[in-house]
Amino acid sequence: MEPRRRIIFVAPVLFLLSCFYSNLGNAIDTITSSRPIRDHETIISNGSAFKLGFFRPGNSSNRYVGIWYNKESEPVVWVANRNKPLNDASGVVTISDHGNLVVLNGQNEVLWSTNVSNSMTNASAQLLDSGNLVLRNNTNGISIWESFQEPTDTILSGMKVSSNKKTDQKVSLTSWKNPSDPSPGSFSHGIKSSDIPEACIWNESRVYWRPGLWNSQTFIGANGRYSFYNDGFQITVDDQEDAVFFTYTFPNLSMFFVLSSQGILEERDWDEGKKNWKVRYQTLQTECDVYGWCGAFGSCNPQKNPICRCLRGFQPKNIEEWNRGNWTSGCVRKRLLQCERRNLTGEKDRFLKLAKMKLPDFVERSSVPVEICREQCLNNCSCIAYAYDASIGCMTWTESLTDIQKFSSGAVDLYIRLAHSELAKKDNKVLIIIPIVVGIITFAICAFFLHSNRCDNVFTVQAWKLWNENNILALIDPVISNPCFQPEILRCIQVGLLCVQEFVKDRPTMPTVVSMLNSEIVDLPTPKQPAFTESQNALDAKSFVQSKQKCSVNYVTLSVIGGR
Ligand SMILES: *[C@@H]1O[C@H](CO)[C@@H](O)[C@H](O)[C@H]1NC(C)=O
Ligand SMILES: *[C@@H]1O[C@H](CO)[C@@H](O)[C@H](O)[C@H]1NC(C)=O
Ligand SMILES: *[C@@H]1O[C@H](CO)[C@@H](O)[C@H](O)[C@H]1NC(C)=O
Ligand SMILES: *[C@@H]1O[C@H](CO)[C@@H](O)[C@H](O)[C@H]1NC(C)=O
Ligand SMILES: *[C@@H]1O[C@H](CO)[C@@H](O)[C@H](O)[C@H]1NC(C)=O
Ligand SMILES: *[C@@H]1O[C@H](CO)[C@@H](O)[C@H](O)[C@H]1NC(C)=O
Ligand SMILES: *[C@@H]1O[C@H](CO)[C@@H](O)[C@H](O)[C@H]1NC(C)=O
Ligand SMILES: *[C@@H]1O[C@H](CO)[C@@H](O)[C@H](O)[C@H]1NC(C)=O
Ligand SMILES: *[C@@H]1O[C@H](CO)[C@@H](O)[C@H](O)[C@H]1NC(C)=O
Ligand SMILES: *[C@@H]1O[C@H](CO)[C@@H](O)[C@H](O)[C@H]1NC(C)=O
Repeated sequence: MEPRRRIIFVAPVLFLLSCFYSNLGNAIDTITSSRPIRDHETIISNGSAFKLGFFRPGNSSNRYVGIWYNKESEPVVWVANRNKPLNDASGVVTISDHGNLVVLNGQNEVLWSTNVSNSMTNASAQLLDSGNLVLRNNTNGISIWESFQEPTDTILSGMKVSSNKKTDQKVSLTSWKNPSDPSPGSFSHGIKSSDIPEACIWNESRVYWRPGLWNSQTFIGANGRYSFYNDGFQITVDDQEDAVFFTYTFPNLSMFFVLSSQGILEERDWDEGKKNWKVRYQTLQTECDVYGWCGAFGSCNPQKNPICRCLRGFQPKNIEEWNRGNWTSGCVRKRLLQCERRNLTGEKDRFLKLAKMKLPDFVERSSVPVEICREQCLNNCSCIAYAYDASIGCMTWTESLTDIQKFSSGAVDLYIRLAHSELAKKDNKVLIIIPIVVGIITFAICAFFLHSNRCDNVFTVQAWKLWNENNILALIDPVISNPCFQPEILRCIQVGLLCVQEFVKDRPTMPTVVSMLNSEIVDLPTPKQPAFTESQNALDAKSFVQSKQKCSVNYVTLSVIGGR
């Protein structure tokens, strides 16, 4: 940034000015109509923490009036004329005849104004050591405008972000367009709703990041053990004004947070040893932190590969997209809920506990105790999940479950409603292990055949034969062919046979195999003839016709049908 280079040149000037003004009994932290500042001049706050002047950002040749830290490295924390830059060094910051603080160009045109006064005869603007620029009516000393009320992209200690429903006024941060252009970019940070105070980062009008609900200590969906919401952060709800204020009070002046032009909110503090700013916390640590990365009913876990999985009982809405790593379409329920079938004779739905989750968006809240929370949710078919936090109370969801993430620590348990049959499926612990074993066998089969050109493999011939005879279980070692596991084993073999189909284009890809094995994809296609033949050519035409018929006729479902 340019101001850095300028300081060396400006400092002696300021020193002289300082002597001059202090002789007159005035501090050099103040702008008046008789003491404007021009390009290459600056004012410095009383304790020397901040500086105000003209600067040129990044590679731009445009000039702006801003406030920056008075340190070796000088992040700009506020910009006045972000929408109307100067293109030369003829700018002036002064107090207008009406008593406004204004930025003028060489032709005396107003590029920016505080725009609050129309009659003040004696006003001045002072840069405080908090970084706040304050316009005062000198006659009575009352502040009539503050830069803290009109933040750019940075929050300094003592600043407020607010939302007032009555006056429809919001104070929020807006990112720079890019590091060379402070004009408003596409990201903003502010208060989402004042009914249940929630913070948010938006990309234009779409939510880009959300930290979840406030539990009177922290936002429960802000990832990581540390978050800037721990540093003197406070929420004030003014019921009379129908307003909410987020106040930030950092332990010292050398901390701030900024909304970057990439939409990441970063907390930085000053490293005196390195003479630089280091990032203490940032909102986007993995892709999972991007709002709705895995779509509806998808759950994100940055420690897994792929990071998106459908919640148990759900499958990808669009399998092709999902397998390509485009998860935005999310997942859909595999089976209707019991309550949706309007069958009251059957088993009730049940809740599956998902431990330590970032809770989904679109929550409804009530203050009933946990047992009643659960009961009310169970008895209302439109309630698809609930969670409970001692401070927040009972939380329920109705439409969809969006923006869910698995956290490694902290966070809250989420209970999702599933058809009884879906839950019964894996209640038995052994069931978790067996599919893995059989899965490995299946993979071995796949690997073996994919990397082998042998066309006379006895095992495949046998498997294919038994499959066609509907007797595939004869292939399985009696030890693992416990009837409970048969559906899983059948699924594995079917996937194995799909992997060794004659035509490569018919074979599933590895991500698809994974989805098939963990039952994200419920309906498996019927395997076609595998790549073994006595007489390749003779069979080609036949198997083509055969497989076409099979595939178009029906899909075999091998998932477990519940009620055990
Ligand atoms: C500037 O700071 C000094 C001490 O740090 C204080 O005595 C003085 O009143 C301050 N001046 C103004 C104008 O705030
Ligand atoms: C300035 O331009 C150079 C070269 O084009 C580029 O590498 C650098 O990132 C730019 N800096 C900013 C702040 O845009
Ligand atoms: C000042 O306020 C008026 C009316 O509220 C608005 O039309 C005008 O654009 C504002 N001017 C500046 C420089 O912000
Ligand atoms: C400034 O203060 C004087 C004295 O209290 C008052 O008469 C005048 O109306 C004030 N001006 C503005 C614009 O607030
Ligand atoms: C403006 O206010 C200051 C402080 O009250 C006072 O010293 C000064 O004389 C006033 N100037 C004018 C022109 O009224
Ligand atoms: C923000 O939104 C714009 C326009 O809708 C889009 O082109 C861009 O990719 C989004 N940025 C991010 C980081 O998602
Ligand atoms: C400011 O406070 C933070 C948190 O207590 C601390 O980590 C940091 O070193 C402090 N910075 C300075 C310059 O004192
Ligand atoms: C992802 O899928 C959505 C929904 O079908 C589509 O609108 C979007 O363009 C896809 N994104 C990419 C990168 O393919
Ligand atoms: C209701 O559910 C039970 C148990 O799941 C089942 O046996 C019965 O056939 C179902 N009745 C209807 C009408 O679907
Ligand atoms: C079920 O929940 C929905 C959504 O919360 C609510 O509108 C509806 O009144 C509830 N129905 C009953 C019978 O409680």
